[in-house]
Amino acid sequence: MSSDSILQNASIGAEIMDRIEALAKISESPNGLTRRYLTPEHRGANDLVGSWMRDSGMTVREDAVGNIIGRYPADCDDAPTLMIGSHLDTVVMAGKYDGMLGVVTGIACIGSLHGRRKHLPIAVEVVGFCDEEGARFQSTYLGSRAVAGTFDRALLKCRDENGICMDDAMIAFGLDPDRVHEAARRPDELLAYIELHIEQGPVLEEQGLAAGVVTGIAGANRLIVTVTGTAGHAGTVPMKLRHDALLAAAECSLVVETVVGDFRDTVGTVGRLDVSPGATNVIPGQVVFSVDLRAAEDHLRLNASVEIQRQWQEIAARRGVDIVAEVVHAAPSAHCAPHMQRQIAEAITRVEGRAVTLPSGAGHDAAAMADVTDVGMIFVRCAGGVSHNPNEAITVADADIGARVMLDLVENFRAER
Ligand code: GLV
Ligand code: MN
Ligand code: MN
Repeated sequence: MSSDSILQNASIGAEIMDRIEALAKISESPNGLTRRYLTPEHRGANDLVGSWMRDSGMTVREDAVGNIIGRYPADCDDAPTLMIGSHLDTVVMAGKYDGMLGVVTGIACIGSLHGRRKHLPIAVEVVGFCDEEGARFQSTYLGSRAVAGTFDRALLKCRDENGICMDDAMIAFGLDPDRVHEAARRPDELLAYIELHIEQGPVLEEQGLAAGVVTGIAGANRLIVTVTGTAGHAGTVPMKLRHDALLAAAECSLVVETVVGDFRDTVGTVGRLDVSPGATNVIPGQVVFSVDLRAAEDHLRLNASVEIQRQWQEIAARRGVDIVAEVVHAAPSAHCAPHMQRQIAEAITRVEGRAVTLPSGAGHDAAAMADVTDVGMIFVRCAGGVSHNPNEAITVADADIGARVMLDLVENFRAER
């Protein structure tokens, strides 16, 4: 469907859902949606999204880190820029809406303006960020940190699970790792950043509302932990003489659960565990596992992390194994600017009659963008609050309401501090 259909008063929600389906077909695996940074699927998504941006009256470019950016000019020269965005990468076996909904909604809003031949006193850019999930290199917000000017160049030496270095993957994708800094924007160029995203939780559903105002985004740490014991024969080594890396890792995982329980509103997840050599009749000699820790309050997350690592060293000493934890990602919590929250609440109230506020436990590109400009977020209800799961779902009607909120917000946007 072209942007003209919006002009003809078709449902913006229907166009958004069509585009979500088209993007969901671009996957590394036929059995579920997986689209990681610097893959052919990343290229495919940028190409498709870039074509929709062009159809909607935007000039399009790919920046130095691999974000795709469309720009819709203002009705006057030298106007500042309002950015709308979210991410186009996914977790492994993802849902279709996490990230993509924000990008296609932004494009649909510009398509509506373009269809009406309307320009605003501000320029509007729509960004499809290239890596928010960190599914390939384990460090998140790569695209938005590059735009915010906080990309850590040390990450260029991170390797994916096949041993491919990020800088080599960039070159293969057609990017120059020495020029990543060129993706950065100056604070004085930007008015604000707005992100629309599925809620990924059940609050809006429970409230009977399609959209909500986000107050802030939880901080997060990711650790990769290597437990080294001694591989051995499963039949000959008595239990008390073993240095089983998997049993140690299992205890470490339970420590994550018990420790976060002692820190208010802190959550911890062990989502990956690789066992070596991984044979039925061999005592595991090495285990590498991931830990994801989150909390709205940074001191709680950081104190939980210290206590977890202290207890891991007790396990290491007792079991005669070595435990080394590497922090591969750390992001402080971020607040949505009060004036952005106010304007989003006004837009939701105009569209839906009332607005609720809620915090985000999930990470979002807005958290990284808060380092360079004021940020605001709109959450859209998703079925059962299910996300990071192929069963993620929203309704056409809610996609439509989300787009109407975004369009109302953009058309009435007031630069405030
Ligand atoms: C991103 O979706 C995250 O919160 O991990
Ligand atoms: Mn996600
Ligand atoms: Mn997301």
